[in-house]
Amino acid sequence: MLRSINDVTKLNNGVLMPWLGLGVWKAEGQDVVNAVKWAVEAGYRHIDTAAVYRNEKEVGEGLKNCGVSRKDLFVTSKAFKMSYREVLDQMDQTLIDLQTDYVDLYLIHWPHPELGDAYLDVWAAMERIYKEGKARAIGVANFYSEYIDRILAEGTVRPAVNQFECHPYYQMPELQKYCREQGIQYQAYSPLGGGAIFGDERIQKIADKYGKSIAQVVLRWDLQKGIIVIPKSVKQNRILSNMDVFDFELEEEDINTLNSFDINTKITCARPDQPWPEFLKEKEERMAKGARF
Ligand SMILES: NC(=O)c1ccc[n+]([C@@H]2O[C@H](COP(=O)([O-])OP(=O)(O)OC[C@H]3O[C@@H](n4cnc5c(N)ncnc54)[C@H](OP(=O)(O)O)[C@@H]3O)[C@@H](O)[C@H]2O)c1
Repeated sequence: MLRSINDVTKLNNGVLMPWLGLGVWKAEGQDVVNAVKWAVEAGYRHIDTAAVYRNEKEVGEGLKNCGVSRKDLFVTSKAFKMSYREVLDQMDQTLIDLQTDYVDLYLIHWPHPELGDAYLDVWAAMERIYKEGKARAIGVANFYSEYIDRILAEGTVRPAVNQFECHPYYQMPELQKYCREQGIQYQAYSPLGGGAIFGDERIQKIADKYGKSIAQVVLRWDLQKGIIVIPKSVKQNRILSNMDVFDFELEEEDINTLNSFDINTKITCARPDQPWPEFLKEKEERMAKGARF
């Protein structure tokens, strides 16, 4: 039972990873520096960034001035480049920008299936990065099970984590099950649906029952299902309230109710095998017909 922001899960290579972290996608400039500093001061020890967020320098600055030593922090970044050499270079730049000698977790950001199995070359670079000690653990993001199967068959290091869009409206139970069976930790990105969960009266009803907020109930739901969460906020009050999820326990029936809200709808990112413009068009058309997201 998770009781504290200090609680960690043990990844398949023995590395300990905090269950709750701060996401910083779409955050810029001083907002990032402040958010990281506020989060760590409040007790967060886990920050999720990526080269393509273009805010690693600010994350680095925030971490440098947060008053907690590097060894007590868990920092994730991600490689977006898709060739062996470019990924090694991208990693080196990430370390410079974050002002650190290593990240705790390095992920392939996107599988890019339109490039065939290029992700296998990227995985070879990830393994080298891992073996050189530049990442304490390596994993993937936005990987369907068939892509992971290829890595398991052809790589020598098992991915530690699969980070995937996950919120009440998009749950991917089969992928979650696959990862559990393979010893790969599932991690929810966009756990608040990028903000889409707010205003859902059905979730509000559950939140009222526990005297909690919609965000807190949804984050707790993930945690009780063994899923790591990285809610993003640049507002201090939200950063604080999003971590206030360790003093209550959802009942089974409420977990099942939240499970039943799955409509297999991605909200913040395209499907891994879908061109981004198609995703945006789909979303626009949905919303033009009156959908909330
Ligand atoms: N691997 C990948 O491909 C991938 C893709 C997407 C995301 N991610 C990671 O996952 C993190 C989280 O996902 P996300 O940023 O897409 O979305 P999210 O965390 O689901 O939602 C963030 C949105 O909700 C708002 N918010 C946060 N807490 C709130 C609260 N308590 N009450 C009301 N509004 C609240 C935020 O606004 P304010 O900032 O204004 O508070 C922001 O607009 C990212 O930042 C990133 O680190 C990874």
